[in-house]
Amino acid sequence: MTTTQRAVLIRAYGSPAEVAEIARPVAGQGQVLVRVRAAGVNGIDWKVRDGLVQQAFPLQLPAVLGIELAGVVEAVGPGASRFRAGDRVMGPLGGLGAYAEFVAVDEVNLVRTPQGLDDVHAAAIPVASVAAWQSLHHAGPIGTGQRILIHGAAGGLGGYAVQYAKRAGAEVFATASAAHLDHVRSLGADHVIDYRAQRFESVARDIDLVLDYVGGEVLERSWQVLKKEGAIVGTSSPDILARTPPGRRGLWFMNKPDTALLERLAAEIAQGTLVSKLGEAVGFADIPAAIERNRTDSRIGKVVADFSR
Ligand SMILES: NC(=O)c1ccc[n+]([C@@H]2O[C@H](COP(=O)([O-])OP(=O)(O)OC[C@H]3O[C@@H](n4cnc5c(N)ncnc54)[C@H](OP(=O)(O)O)[C@@H]3O)[C@@H](O)[C@H]2O)c1
Repeated sequence: MTTTQRAVLIRAYGSPAEVAEIARPVAGQGQVLVRVRAAGVNGIDWKVRDGLVQQAFPLQLPAVLGIELAGVVEAVGPGASRFRAGDRVMGPLGGLGAYAEFVAVDEVNLVRTPQGLDDVHAAAIPVASVAAWQSLHHAGPIGTGQRILIHGAAGGLGGYAVQYAKRAGAEVFATASAAHLDHVRSLGADHVIDYRAQRFESVARDIDLVLDYVGGEVLERSWQVLKKEGAIVGTSSPDILARTPPGRRGLWFMNKPDTALLERLAAEIAQGTLVSKLGEAVGFADIPAAIERNRTDSRIGKVVADFSR
């Protein structure tokens, strides 16, 4: 029996991700061994690689990257009881290591992949769908008529957040590039702003909540459109805490696995009542290049590594 497997890992902070052979894991206490069929590519991959989020993701190097997957249960570890060999599962790892052919996963992080959802689409969902929901509600309950500004509305998180915010009865302002405005409008945004052609400050005012999925100067400029008692929730960098002016409310958000929520959102996506956009599927050998492209790419929808390619 083969005891090694392919994985995408880094050997040092700042060094490029590479495909390498590593030992195949076994399922430990409360874990299942998943034969991975697809894994989502995320901005966190290169941020981890560059050592930008060392507190949240302390690494033992070399470290396999990848934070979410879909696949099939290959074996069940001691004390694990929720799944059987052959079950289709999806989920976040709550850590790193999804870019490997076999991954030992704490079973509490996984849900059954709903019928009607293939593995590539399933792998695009776990982190972004849940992070968008949690970040939308992070600053407090959303009320009807609240004015919410979503930066990065065409992205992985933004696409879901627009839909959730509309359902909650909010008035949604959304920034995106020109090519993505129709898509963002189709998700329900009331006001779409081409961030290259128009300053969002000239359209969005008296905002109750800013979801900042972009960071940098976008954060700086957002304080002036926010109501005095409003909040900005940032997902791109913890520097929001140091960059929040005195007396204002700036919150750093970190997503947490929530299987009940993921189960509900995945079922909705399978049924077609929630839109999840797949951008591109790449082969396993192309994962390192896809991680690099995530820094600069402008596309609608998520990039997913399809392990069958
Ligand atoms: N803290 C957490 O728990 C957590 C969880 C998940 C993700 N994240 C982070 O959250 C951020 C968003 O993640 P994601 O997966 O949604 O990223 P993504 O899919 O790469 O989307 C980013 C979006 O930002 C848009 N954008 C770039 N510059 C912009 C600007 N100046 N104004 C408005 N929009 C702009 C791009 O829009 P166009 O394509 O239209 O140009 C792109 O669609 C990333 O930094 C990611 O690492 C954090």
